[in-house]
Amino acid sequence: MEFKLLPGGTLQGEARVPGDKSISHRSIMLGSLAEGVTRVSGFLEGEDALATVAAFRAMGVQIEGPANGRVTIHGVGLHGLQAPANSIDLGNSGTSIRLLSGLLAGQDFACELTGDASLCGRPMGRVMTPLQLMGADIESAEGGRPPLRIGGGAELKAIHYDLPMASAQVKSCVLLAGLYADGQTSVTEPAPTRDHTERMLRGFGYSVERDSEGIISLQGGGTLQATAIDVPADISSAAFFMVAASIAPGSELLLDHVGINPTRTGVISLLRAMGADIELLNEREVGGEPVADILVRSAQLRGIDIPQEQIPLAIDEFPVLFVAAACAEGRTTLRGAEELRVKESDRIAAMAEGLTTLGVSNEVLEDGIIIDGFGGAGSFCGGEVNSYHDHRIAMAFAVAALRASAEIHVLEADNVATSFPGFDALARGLGLQIRVVEDLVEEPFERQ
Ligand code: S3P
Repeated sequence: MEFKLLPGGTLQGEARVPGDKSISHRSIMLGSLAEGVTRVSGFLEGEDALATVAAFRAMGVQIEGPANGRVTIHGVGLHGLQAPANSIDLGNSGTSIRLLSGLLAGQDFACELTGDASLCGRPMGRVMTPLQLMGADIESAEGGRPPLRIGGGAELKAIHYDLPMASAQVKSCVLLAGLYADGQTSVTEPAPTRDHTERMLRGFGYSVERDSEGIISLQGGGTLQATAIDVPADISSAAFFMVAASIAPGSELLLDHVGINPTRTGVISLLRAMGADIELLNEREVGGEPVADILVRSAQLRGIDIPQEQIPLAIDEFPVLFVAAACAEGRTTLRGAEELRVKESDRIAAMAEGLTTLGVSNEVLEDGIIIDGFGGAGSFCGGEVNSYHDHRIAMAFAVAALRASAEIHVLEADNVATSFPGFDALARGLGLQIRVVEDLVEEPFERQ
């Protein structure tokens, strides 16, 4: 599947983008392990979150929906999961496999976790190391890649783990395994990362401490109590339209009910530092997560040096931030972002290649990129860019068309539905001139 985009356009209107992916995953996981019935609204009906739903169904949890973002989960308690009949396929979803490996390390049955070609190329050593320190029986394919085989019946022991990289998935994996460990499990992170796991555990009545030195800890052996969860719109999906409205002259766009958890708002801080006109309206708290409506008007952006501490807070937004940097006046420099190389694709390489195709001068660094923006009067030239089956690369280059001088074709855009089902229709409604072209499927020869 590919996107074809006509150049130019202005963004006008109001929209609510789909639900937060991180919170949607966690709502299914904790809802399944809780005592009682958890009702979720605003759930992301994207392929990644649906992979988590399918995984828990395969382990015997009764889950109704999703229908219009509503899901009802009949929790089985921390010890109520059943052995799945087959290996569990988590598709493209890194969050599913890494968080599940922590939960499954504590079960009394064995299972295997696998995924698509992209997921099977991603590093799992980062979760295997702490889980093995806790006493888990976990094996991978060569080079620490999926499939993962987790043996059942391990007696987990609590550990303290200093995360070597800023990763919410690794932090969450250790904390979730800690629910099954004897004693207090704790972690420190080199820089704050998204804290949805900690917040949601508390929402389910489970105590999670964070001390003044940033040590996050919990005691094993408690219970989770079912609750109601209202999932806000995903700031990572809203980010595409924040950049779109910023770079398309004459735009004014209101994005409703967006999660603005401070561990996720790096994209707002960075765009504002670049000169973007972004206002947060009607700030409120919904189910333990801060939410706001976000008003964006177009503005001339300028290049910046991206501060290190903002990197984990904007980790998924760099593809579209690079598009903003290309439209900015002057140079944008990103260093210390090697994590971008192990996402759904190598996002530094994939973005650099596409930016070069579209005429943007850039230099690739081992751990980042330098982008020389074309500024006010400039534009992307048209062309064909490969998104390498990475949803966020595909949507970033779709946004670039707003400031292009000719058509942009985005190849391999099939995975957009992992995080943002309906992206093309919503984008079209707001002013992008986008068309989806399905791969040609040859009709089978009909027998007479
Ligand atoms: C996520 C954490 C981040 C992020 C991913 C979702 C999560 O990954 O990139 O899209 O839900 O915990 P890392 O922990 O690998 O940085």
